[in-house]
Amino acid sequence: MLKIAPSILSADFANLERDIRRVDTADYLHVDVMDGLFVPNITIGIPVVEAIRPVTALPLDVHLMIDRPVRYVEQFCRAGADIVTVHVEADSEENTKKALSLIRAQGKRAGVVLKPGTPAEAALPFLEQCAMVLVMTVEPGFGGQAFMEDMMPKLRTLRGWIDQRGLDCELEVDGGIGPETCKTAAANGATVLVAGSAVYHAQDIPARIRELRG
Ligand code: DX5
Ligand code: ZN
Repeated sequence: MLKIAPSILSADFANLERDIRRVDTADYLHVDVMDGLFVPNITIGIPVVEAIRPVTALPLDVHLMIDRPVRYVEQFCRAGADIVTVHVEADSEENTKKALSLIRAQGKRAGVVLKPGTPAEAALPFLEQCAMVLVMTVEPGFGGQAFMEDMMPKLRTLRGWIDQRGLDCELEVDGGIGPETCKTAAANGATVLVAGSAVYHAQDIPARIRELRG
């Protein structure tokens, strides 16, 4: 079954604990970290990950949209992240490999993220080290954008490589996921769906999570 990872980017930050508890029927809690350099927005960081850790039993899926994440991955792991994903565009291949190794050395799951303009091939050097590959279906930076259906060939390519190699690697999609686009993403090989506005703007959040799972 598909896993659903609600993004707290669409939560009410003045009531973050309440809004985290509202999604407790989901599979992961997706935490969008932005530094104002790698993306044109600034959100939350290490102290917030630390603060929300005791509030939920869900694994924290921390999506680092930051420049040269190798500098900070260990701190995010220590703060309580369970899965840490880094953008392949954010540093050199060597430093991205180092970041993945540092995450794994902390006993956490590591993954890489591809922006819409980045081809599937950019994930290849890292696949064996990854417990997750995340395909962006919007330009990273903001919630509430439209799903880019033209990312589906890239998703299928990655699905094929993961299966051919028999890797234990989740394939996650992030951006514009809703009751219709969830089906498209699943049909093209996604196993984890991030959803911010579709979850938090729903009248009945548990029902919306069930709907997205399909
Ligand atoms: C965008 C973030 C997403 C965002 C998704 O940079 O990575 O996780 O919260 O929001 P929706 O689901 O509203 O597109
Ligand atoms: Zn995200």
